[in-house]
Amino acid sequence: MIRATIENINVYEGQVVTLSGWLYNKRSSGKIIFLQIRDGSGFIQGVVVKKEVSEAVFETCKSLPQESSFHVTGMVQRDERSALGYELLVREVEVVCRAEEGYPISLKEHGTDFLMDYRHLWMRTPRQHAILRIRDEINLGLREFFHEEGFVLVEPPIITPASCEGTTELFEIDYFGENAYLSQTGQLYAEAAAMAFGKVYSFGPTFRAEKSKTRKHLNEFWMIEPEMAFVDFEGNLKVQEEMVSYVIKRVLQRRRRELELLGRDVTALEKIEPPFPRITYTEAVEMLKNAGFEFEWGDDFGAPHETHIADQYEKPVFITHFPTSMKAFYMQPDPTNPEVILGADLIAPEGYGEIIGGSQRIHDLELLLEKLRAENLPEEVYQWYIELRKFGSVPHSGFGLGLERTVAWICGIDHIRQTIPFARTLNRVYP
Ligand code: 4AD
Ligand code: MG
Repeated sequence: MIRATIENINVYEGQVVTLSGWLYNKRSSGKIIFLQIRDGSGFIQGVVVKKEVSEAVFETCKSLPQESSFHVTGMVQRDERSALGYELLVREVEVVCRAEEGYPISLKEHGTDFLMDYRHLWMRTPRQHAILRIRDEINLGLREFFHEEGFVLVEPPIITPASCEGTTELFEIDYFGENAYLSQTGQLYAEAAAMAFGKVYSFGPTFRAEKSKTRKHLNEFWMIEPEMAFVDFEGNLKVQEEMVSYVIKRVLQRRRRELELLGRDVTALEKIEPPFPRITYTEAVEMLKNAGFEFEWGDDFGAPHETHIADQYEKPVFITHFPTSMKAFYMQPDPTNPEVILGADLIAPEGYGEIIGGSQRIHDLELLLEKLRAENLPEEVYQWYIELRKFGSVPHSGFGLGLERTVAWICGIDHIRQTIPFARTLNRVYP
């Protein structure tokens, strides 16, 4: 018996193989039953012809409820009409678990909220399956990019004693009678690690108690955060555009079938290569005003602003030199104009908004202390972070890429909640 997977089915053309999987769907026309079989690696049509199988096999297939699990044996044959290019001419079926009747997800259109309630089952369907496959590819691509470039993966803690990125969006927890928080970012710890290893990255879940209900916000999301000693503002942007381009190229090479299933216009993705365009925050404000937006220097961009700016370019665009007052305490002010910082946000095309925030960091001890005091941040809990500026401090830079927003953009899907296996949003902690 040859055990095959749908992903590699082309290897077995003309041979009899066994697939282990689930009955995704089924239709029949009297003497023929068409089984939609999925095995986790893909979807294939199984054809059960009455006169070519035993009566028992035919009856089993006829009565088997949706999402039953089984081993199916049959001959792999070419089928030009299917996306996969192959179908399975079924000979034997061995049922593992006969599903209950009444599978909640049918082929009819369900609302997204309903489907999110059944996320544990919804992820079995082709579109959701394709999105999470692409997520996996992006995830691995990011790790491989940094590993190849000599970065060391260093995991920051998830439970932290202080805020790392603004104090208003913290999930507070009771840590044996003391206040602690779920991490908003691994950055400050990555900075410590960069002084030990030179080039590092962290990649983990981060938490924001934001009461946002937009299609770009999750309360738990994954962020990859590289941090580099002896790298300045300029070098930081270079790593970002190379990283993004590398990941897109990889998805185009390895997950084209999934992109096609999602109906993604890949020509837009094929244009993504370094260098990326840049404009300063101040230029962006001018651009918005000229386009008729009411916008003042010092205002933060909303979705319509970001989209307007992004629409001027075919590639992601860096908006650089934001007002110092708008950004986090650790960002290095521009020595030639301390009103703005040596940092940038990367805005994805097609309205997907900010996917990266990054900057050069303050490495001067006195300046850091000044900033902490100005923002009323308690020095005691940042003592370790301050000490990094006492012992061999060097100019350094880093950034954070939000995984889910990147997946949404690359997949071309409208809502970020579909890009993570189990989303945590303002009104959802189930399932
Ligand atoms: O701009 P942010 O808040 O930057 C930081 O946290 C820095 N400490 C990163 C660093 O320099 N190491 O977040 C970085 C990225 C955003 O550009 C966005 O892609 C994503 O994280 N992000 C979110 N994604 C989903 N839901 C949310 N609520 C997000 N908030 C930020
Ligand atoms: Mg940001």
